[in-house]
Amino acid sequence: MSDFFTVVHAQRACRDFAPTGLDDDVIARVLDAATFAPSAENRQPWVFVVVRDAARRAQLHDLAQRAWDAGGRDFAAGRLSAGLLADVEHGIAGGGYRAAPVVIVVAADTKRCHPATIPASIFPAVQNLCLAAQASGLGSALTTITTTFAAELATLVDLPDTVVAQAVVPLGYPARPLGPPRREGFAGHTHRDRFGVPW
Ligand SMILES: Cc1cc2nc3c(=O)[nH]c(=O)nc-3n(C[C@H](O)[C@H](O)[C@H](O)COP(=O)(O)O)c2cc1C
Repeated sequence: MSDFFTVVHAQRACRDFAPTGLDDDVIARVLDAATFAPSAENRQPWVFVVVRDAARRAQLHDLAQRAWDAGGRDFAAGRLSAGLLADVEHGIAGGGYRAAPVVIVVAADTKRCHPATIPASIFPAVQNLCLAAQASGLGSALTTITTTFAAELATLVDLPDTVVAQAVVPLGYPARPLGPPRREGFAGHTHRDRFGVPW
């Protein structure tokens, strides 16, 4: 198990997976970490649908590809660097995500939380999940593009109307080392006492 800061400094989106399967106990450890995230009013509204079934995984990837082809790519092309656009395209349309042996649909149970708090109560759990995956030697990616086809996504994994998908996370062993994430230093984003006074 890795030191926390080593994990944080290494965690990034994995878009190429080895076909190696995952044992349930590995998945359970990652999900257990996810559920130690904070949530508004401690309502813990997270719902995880762990998809191993190959046919259903393929349907999830097909849906992501449809969302990409139906406008996701055009939207991203105007916003992402060429390198990131190519990486995302590889994951969604180039088969990178398809190799992942597990896909986790993370959803919110709207009966457990105020609507205004849904993303803020779900994404900390998703980040814990991704960090736990990194600490376990696994790759993961926080993706949301499939949620733009919300009705189809819900149908694919039988979500009731009151449970709303927020993210789709492919999980598995990375096909190759990812290299370090590229990040701007925190100091450029930080102010002392009031905005405009540099760190
Ligand atoms: C809200 C959110 C939505 C994202 N959606 C997608 C997505 O649909 N597809 C994808 O490949 N990556 C997605 N990402 C991953 C980002 O592209 C990635 O975190 C960012 O480019 C940093 O890259 P790194 O993880 O390689 O350091 C998403 C990340 C966030 C936080």
